[in-house]
Amino acid sequence: MEMQLLWVLVLAGLSGILAQTDLYQKVFVFRNDPSNAYVRVQTKPEQPLQNFTVCLRSFSDQTRPYGLFSYASKAHDSEILIFKLKSGEYRLYVGGEFVMYHVPENRMDWDHVCASWESAMGLATFWINGKPLPRKGLQKGYFISAEAMILLGQKQDGYGGSFDPYNSLTGEMADVYMWEYVLSPAQMRAAYLSLRLPPCALGWRNLQYEIKGDVVVKPRLRESVVL
Ligand SMILES: *[C@@H]1O[C@H](CO)[C@@H](O)[C@H](O)[C@H]1NC(C)=O
Repeated sequence: MEMQLLWVLVLAGLSGILAQTDLYQKVFVFRNDPSNAYVRVQTKPEQPLQNFTVCLRSFSDQTRPYGLFSYASKAHDSEILIFKLKSGEYRLYVGGEFVMYHVPENRMDWDHVCASWESAMGLATFWINGKPLPRKGLQKGYFISAEAMILLGQKQDGYGGSFDPYNSLTGEMADVYMWEYVLSPAQMRAAYLSLRLPPCALGWRNLQYEIKGDVVVKPRLRESVVL
């Protein structure tokens, strides 16, 4: 009997069943620098992704590089990766290839980013604080593996857990969302303004997550991060 219970727990752990939580008005605080900590989040695409949008907010005064959203498959560590290289420069990776985006210098405030990509046109779009940057070509015809390990606050250098602590986020993160399609411009702006959003597999209001290491959930210091 005890063996059976243990086995069920092991299976539950392997299949990665995580509790769902509404994180409205909350943030993750990544406290250490450098850090091995991360937040694992979960979504279950039913088939390889041909389109996606990932949105999130982050707040950090770090000058070294850091990973924000790291979706690794067994084929590619950076199947999808939103990476801040330095102040004023983001990278978006799809299937191991990347495009760079220059953004206004950090104003010591929250940055809201939405990154989207569509395979058919091989087109990547990066929105920063509700405004789109010029679109760029990336991985035309590529399919993103549906079997993924998704970590926040790190850049995976191997499927699920191998990373450089000097590429970790120190700071705060909130409003993490992922859709399996490209949001319309109105929906991109709605994400920035924290307005009502379409249903999604991975969302801040019903987030399935697991904290590993020194990350804490705290209320926001300001009611609206847009102000
Ligand atoms: C991906 O988006 C394109 C439009 O760019 C659409 O034609 C296609 O059906 C979408 N694929 C999936 C699997 O949703």
